[in-house]
Amino acid sequence: MKAFLRKALDSAPMMKSGSAYDFALEHFPFPESGTILDLGTGNGHGVAYLSRRLPEASIVTLDLNMGCVRWSELEFGPSRPFFVQADVTNIPIASGSVDMVEMVMTFHCLPKPERVMAEAFRVLKPGGSILIADVDGRHWMAKPFEWVEHWLVSPLTHAYTEDEFRALLSGAGFRNIRARRREKSGMKFMMWLFAEKPAD
Ligand SMILES: C[S@@+](CC[C@H](N)C(=O)[O-])C[C@H]1O[C@@H](n2cnc3c(N)ncnc32)[C@H](O)[C@@H]1O
Repeated sequence: MKAFLRKALDSAPMMKSGSAYDFALEHFPFPESGTILDLGTGNGHGVAYLSRRLPEASIVTLDLNMGCVRWSELEFGPSRPFFVQADVTNIPIASGSVDMVEMVMTFHCLPKPERVMAEAFRVLKPGGSILIADVDGRHWMAKPFEWVEHWLVSPLTHAYTEDEFRALLSGAGFRNIRARRREKSGMKFMMWLFAEKPAD
């Protein structure tokens, strides 16, 4: 039963959609020809989409388990992302080396949230940015989302509120924190946060 539901969830059109990335690209500045570190590859559709939208960026994507990547379904941009199997709490990337860290529908299931934020801050260049897109902990769908995730995916899942994200981001040293939600249509249960590592 659980395996069937997990498969149905994985096949949902939303799991292959780039719309969370579209909203981010429309509302926040991305380093179009810089290095972007994607945390939480998942099925790979998101990072493949990003590589098509930002053909000049160098994209690195990291996940603990590359077993979920749907290699045969992925269509990359001209520059294929670099896939790294590793733990986000211990990112095997040099300090001060990437222009942006982004996490789309990933942060809610990660362990040690303070440690993940500290690692994201460490690998960013001064003046670099972080983008998080995730379920809004204040939306009515946050609790049902947590129940389903706890049952099917991970007991760690927590839908963070904007205040919780702001505390984690500022605690790690990020500044100029901005949050946005969709006002008109679709994905009203999500929010997007953007913040910067201060320039030296
Ligand atoms: C929901 S998926 C990410 C979805 C993807 N970002 C997208 O846009 O479609 C969450 C991913 O986080 C990964 N993950 C969970 N804990 C992790 C950890 N400690 N280190 C690295 N990846 C982790 C899981 O393996 C899973 O693939």
